[in-house]
Amino acid sequence: MASKTPIKIRVRRMDYEIPAIPRYWYRENTWITHFMNALSTSFPDGERFFIHAVRNFESQITDPQLRSQIRAFIGQEANHGKEHEAFNNALIEQHDLPLKSKMGFMKKALAYAKKRYSPREQLALTVGFEHFTAILANLMLEQTDVIESLDAMYGDMFMWHAVEETEHKSVAYDVFQEVDGDYWVRVSGMAKATFFFMLITFRMQYSLLKHDGKLKDWRGALGFAKFMLLKPGMLTKIIPEYLDFYRPNFHPWQHDNRALIEKYVEQLGEHELRAMDAA
Ligand SMILES: [Fe+2]
Ligand SMILES: [Fe+2]
Repeated sequence: MASKTPIKIRVRRMDYEIPAIPRYWYRENTWITHFMNALSTSFPDGERFFIHAVRNFESQITDPQLRSQIRAFIGQEANHGKEHEAFNNALIEQHDLPLKSKMGFMKKALAYAKKRYSPREQLALTVGFEHFTAILANLMLEQTDVIESLDAMYGDMFMWHAVEETEHKSVAYDVFQEVDGDYWVRVSGMAKATFFFMLITFRMQYSLLKHDGKLKDWRGALGFAKFMLLKPGMLTKIIPEYLDFYRPNFHPWQHDNRALIEKYVEQLGEHELRAMDAA
């Protein structure tokens, strides 16, 4: 059974050129577009928080492999933040979306977490968020038509992000196990992450739909319901893997999905800056 990262974690610099983005860039669906916009908006601050939470414990890690994986994790998350920030700024410039003002709530939630939770609880929260992103990434990679068929920069960006979330999916987890490992701290971190994730994402989506006057776009709402519940089932299909996390002997690589990312790794190879060895 895998207990550590079994693949190379590659840090890539993408520098995407951002095209004219249709207002409802996700297949002209208002609700799904704003769901994806909500995710993209939450990434830069969220990822800075994850980096901060892992960095707090970096000096306690002695295993050279895990140390280099931490550096790769930080490099990848920093690049995700950079690219999503550029995309978010383009949405603001091109469509005058109020992303900055709607971000206030997210910033307050993260400031609350930093103030209220101890470093090990912040790390456990990060481990929970990382599992969330990993299982959403897995779904996107498995059901390639979710993103791949978009055939535009934003499709590529979400795909690249999904590949790297898969590559580094156990780094925060392994750090947590090394420095703490308490089951209850880990699962309560996940419970908090679930609460924050739902609250922040759906609140932001609601605000953007309200801003656009699209809350009553029933066609968009139905498409979104199908997207969440049936195909690809962003909510329903991840439930078994989500629940896996609550098993005492869980490890992210027990679900070995290396094969899924192989074709994308090749595609992304030209942007590689450095690669950290597998365990
Ligand atoms: Fe990320
Ligand atoms: Fe991540």
